[in-house]
Amino acid sequence: MQLILNSDSYEQVLTLASEFRRTVRGMRDLIDDEAERLRRIEQKAREVSRLYGYNEVITPLVERYELLAAKVGEDNRKRMFVFEDLGGRKVALRPEFTASVARLVATKMQSAPRPLRLFSVGSLYRYDEPQFGRYREFWQANYELFGSSRPEADTEILALTDNLLKEIGAKNYHFKIGHVGVLRSILSHDGIAEEVQNSIMKLLDKKQYDDAVEVARKAGSPKSSLETLESILKIRGQDSETVVSKTCETVKNFPEALDAARNLGEILSLLKAGGIEVNLVIEAGFARGLEYYTGMVFEIYTQGMDIAVGGGGRYDKLIELFGGGQVPAVGVALGVDRLSLSLQKQGSTFQGSGESRILVVAVDSSMFGEAVKVSSILRKNGVAVELETMGRSVSKALSDADRRSVTHAVIVGSREIKEKKVVLRFMKERTQETVPLGRLLEKIGRKG
Ligand code: HAM
Repeated sequence: MQLILNSDSYEQVLTLASEFRRTVRGMRDLIDDEAERLRRIEQKAREVSRLYGYNEVITPLVERYELLAAKVGEDNRKRMFVFEDLGGRKVALRPEFTASVARLVATKMQSAPRPLRLFSVGSLYRYDEPQFGRYREFWQANYELFGSSRPEADTEILALTDNLLKEIGAKNYHFKIGHVGVLRSILSHDGIAEEVQNSIMKLLDKKQYDDAVEVARKAGSPKSSLETLESILKIRGQDSETVVSKTCETVKNFPEALDAARNLGEILSLLKAGGIEVNLVIEAGFARGLEYYTGMVFEIYTQGMDIAVGGGGRYDKLIELFGGGQVPAVGVALGVDRLSLSLQKQGSTFQGSGESRILVVAVDSSMFGEAVKVSSILRKNGVAVELETMGRSVSKALSDADRRSVTHAVIVGSREIKEKKVVLRFMKERTQETVPLGRLLEKIGRKG
């Protein structure tokens, strides 16, 4: 069938084509190094999950809106990709993993032995304003530990995070850490409703300290509490003992806030006892935008980037909210894209795998079948092989291989193959030799 276009519709098609060719705002194509870095970080994250005994779970990208919206915080709630499916259900693309994993624990994994350690990695969606390190589709490596309310569990999450950062070669990073129990206990003590507390936390997350105190004042916090809140917001430092003891002193008239400050102290001293030396900035008034946190909260910052590469904390009430009983939980999510950016910024590239990269070229089309056989032998032995499939001459294929960091070329010619041999070219050295097939693996540095 022939499509006949008049000039108007032709122009329309061109305009549409240029629109279609662009990715949707906030969405990216990841190619070459970017794709490779993302997958390598993912690989390292999976390796760390194995080392710490976290089993991978794969949850759906689309969930019920209500589940995802429950405690994600007002800002994240407003930025969800929400739609109605064809069955009329209100659904959304996941903006984080925690709600989905908590749903699992409240349902299918309710009777799984505790502690339960779960790992997830994949893409997430938030309608954030695109800018450096902020996208509408991004990746996280997420770890959750269920069943322990003890500081040991919080410490494990911090240690694991530090381990992953070291594993991928991140340098000059620090943990900003606090405990939402300190502030929330004071507000609860004054009878401030949870929604008002959430809006105060949201303002603190955005560093709008005065506005936060003003909301507490309007909600009826007495002068003495407001003064305590103001003092807490000023307590920060790098030495955990000093900051924790200052916080304890400040909140001594609020028993639950005092417990929270002591809990933070315990977590940090366990970290020290375990020999895990991380740079810390402890902030007594630190809050995060997500509403489910009940205890220790933290974020990770790397030098030169003022956006967090990861964040997490304790959330002991979410499983109960999802009908799964009282299950304490603590977890962390590392932003894979931001980790990748920070590695790029600090100039570190992942060490190449050091693997050989082989090109197999047939001298002419009659030798192509033999070239396929040679490739199969190499691949069976775990060697990555690219086969020349463009019908190019050997010299053209070799000059292309030079540009693509191929380490060796295997040239398959009729004379050599009759003697069960091939020509092996060492690309960097620009030398070549005729090699029996039986010794090919050894010659390219691989055991057979
Ligand atoms: P979150 O702080 O919302 O925490 O996100 C964790 C990390 O995801 C951030 O530190 C950042 O690296 C990355 N991230 C978030 N939004 C974007 C974006 N628009 N573009 C690029 N990267 C982004 C959570 O998601 C919690 N679920 C963490 C958690 C797990 N808490 C307990 N368990």
